[in-house]
Amino acid sequence: MPGDSNERRADSRGAEYMRALVNRLNETAYSYYTLDKPIISDAQWDALYDELLALERETGVRLPDSPTRRVGGEPLSAFEPHAHIARLWSLDKTTTEAGVREWASRAEKLRSSPIDGDSLPPIEYIVEYKLDGLTINLTYENGALVQAATRGSGVVGEAILPQARTIRQVPLSIPFLGKMEVQGEAIMRFSALNAYNRSADVPLKNARNAAAGALRNLDPNVTAQRRLDLFCYQIGMIEPAPDDPNPSWRIVPYDNHADMLEFLRMNRFPISPEARTAKNIDEAIAHVRALEATRDSLDYLIDGAVIKISDLKTRAELGSTDKFPRWAIAFKFRAEEAVTRLEAVTWELGRTGKLTPLAHLAPVDLAGATVRRATLNNPGDIERKNVRVGAMVWLRRSGDVIPEILGRTDETFPDEEPIVPPGVCPACGMPVVMRGAYLYCENRDCRPQRVARLAHFASRDAMDIETFSEKTAALLYDALGVRSADELYTLDATALADLPGFGEKRARNLIEAINISKTRSLGAFLYALGIPNVGTKTARNLAERFGSIDAIRCAQTDALIAMDDVGEIVARSVADFFASEENLRLIANLERAGVRPAVERIEAAADGAFVGETVVITGTLSGLMRKEAQDAVRAAGGAVADSVTKKTTLVVAGESAGSKLDKARALGITVIDETTFMERLEL
Ligand code: IVH
Repeated sequence: MPGDSNERRADSRGAEYMRALVNRLNETAYSYYTLDKPIISDAQWDALYDELLALERETGVRLPDSPTRRVGGEPLSAFEPHAHIARLWSLDKTTTEAGVREWASRAEKLRSSPIDGDSLPPIEYIVEYKLDGLTINLTYENGALVQAATRGSGVVGEAILPQARTIRQVPLSIPFLGKMEVQGEAIMRFSALNAYNRSADVPLKNARNAAAGALRNLDPNVTAQRRLDLFCYQIGMIEPAPDDPNPSWRIVPYDNHADMLEFLRMNRFPISPEARTAKNIDEAIAHVRALEATRDSLDYLIDGAVIKISDLKTRAELGSTDKFPRWAIAFKFRAEEAVTRLEAVTWELGRTGKLTPLAHLAPVDLAGATVRRATLNNPGDIERKNVRVGAMVWLRRSGDVIPEILGRTDETFPDEEPIVPPGVCPACGMPVVMRGAYLYCENRDCRPQRVARLAHFASRDAMDIETFSEKTAALLYDALGVRSADELYTLDATALADLPGFGEKRARNLIEAINISKTRSLGAFLYALGIPNVGTKTARNLAERFGSIDAIRCAQTDALIAMDDVGEIVARSVADFFASEENLRLIANLERAGVRPAVERIEAAADGAFVGETVVITGTLSGLMRKEAQDAVRAAGGAVADSVTKKTTLVVAGESAGSKLDKARALGITVIDETTFMERLEL
């Protein structure tokens, strides 16, 4: 077994050992990325990987399917053209059920009059998601990935092997020894997009473009950073090897779509996440609707469903037009893209002083909603897209609430006008400054900023002051001169009652709600302070890790960065926030006004027994209450979680532990009992 360094001795043993190490790493990566079932811990993986790296350096040998090839490597100087063996077809499309039925009856007619007279089975359909990413074509020979290419014209694409290798789900080697081309869609999950954007200087706006841009980037390191994913749905060409060790693979081992997918699965390809069989076109249409209903809950973009005839002989019989096969059709869902006129741009001020260009549009239907506004992100974005007032622009919904302008049409209009970023703040008239990609008004006293900060402070995830809205904030600012959050706690009920729309009862209720907020959790309080780049989760983690505002204020950058979801940008934001006199005064005033965030302070030992572990405690412990056990883990440097996930590294199973224990076993996570737990805690 790899991991035992005694085994590395003679050269031939070394070669064998390297092969075993590569196999083990590939197998665990497959379990993790494609099956979503980790079988070893991250630390174990790292140790094996480092051992392989060292061995490769020492011997100068790197196997073709070594996982160390996935990290990127040297940028290319240009993409080489690659001729596909089998053509990559595009799909005929429709947006109506009538269109689907028409397609199906044409196919049925052709099928029932086969040219060579062979009888064909009754038509069965497969319905899949139409994934919206970048199509890639993977070529395998003799069990190895030898090429990857973009679709291009369908006949010739661009060779992107180093880029494709960085996608963890792309198998670098497979058991099938013949030659084949596998088609799939490379996508970027929204979760990966959001994670990337959290630390990116230039955020990615759209998952499809992010995936396409990543693969069509000459530098494979850029591809690697984007954490793309893959789903495969088609074998374009297959030529089995007569001596394949698996006898059933010496001929083409499938004659319909489901078996083709099964063959891909056996060769460790990630396959299309949904492939529903239908016996007739009504059923197929019902599947399309069912898939459409899942659209908003998916972690990736789809733009429709694909209906395919399953039987491959029928497919061959039906053939194709010059553009697309007759055996498949795409049912496109409601457009998430639209074109409309850009009528004006205003610059909106957020609570951090950031000025964001907001596009005002001629109303247009987008994914079933009427859209009148869209974001243009920042001045550089406007310039890059060459967008002007009066131009026709195209919009796309990309998982966010407010749609985004992706670009303009080629058409130009005589009344077009450039969008000029303001030199002074539209609200307060102070000169604005450029920081990174964004314009800022640095006047902290600027009214819209103050109002937005007050509203944020009171919002649900922050101090959760009931009935307090942005409107309330504006009213208090204008009528009572409230400028910052601490002043909320000294509000006078009589003065409030006189405000338009208030009255005694509402005034009393608001005062009561403000009072209640004094004991919100430390995490909520931190979030309420509005530290740039600190969202609810980071705020909660900071609160748990440091236990008090003072401890966070004094925290060293290293200690901050050591936390799971804190990078340099967040650490810097925190440090900057606490370096400001004004912020410190605000905190002191809030404390003086009686704000006492509820603190769960746990002193974590840097050398504790659970440093680096994410622990789930389940079942009944005889010696400790659940909460005590969790606090003990935290005090010993570990993190505590409620549910068992891939991130869990250890499960403590007490008496009659149930489903969490089952899940831990299924995921191959280390499980210990109460006695071992107490021993490790030295209690
Ligand atoms: S099958 C015709 N299945 O959509 C046989 N294509 O507009 C090959 N696509 O570039 C395509 N999801 O790459 C098929 N489940 C799916 C798909 C899918 C997305 C892409 C395909 C092609 C485009 C056609």
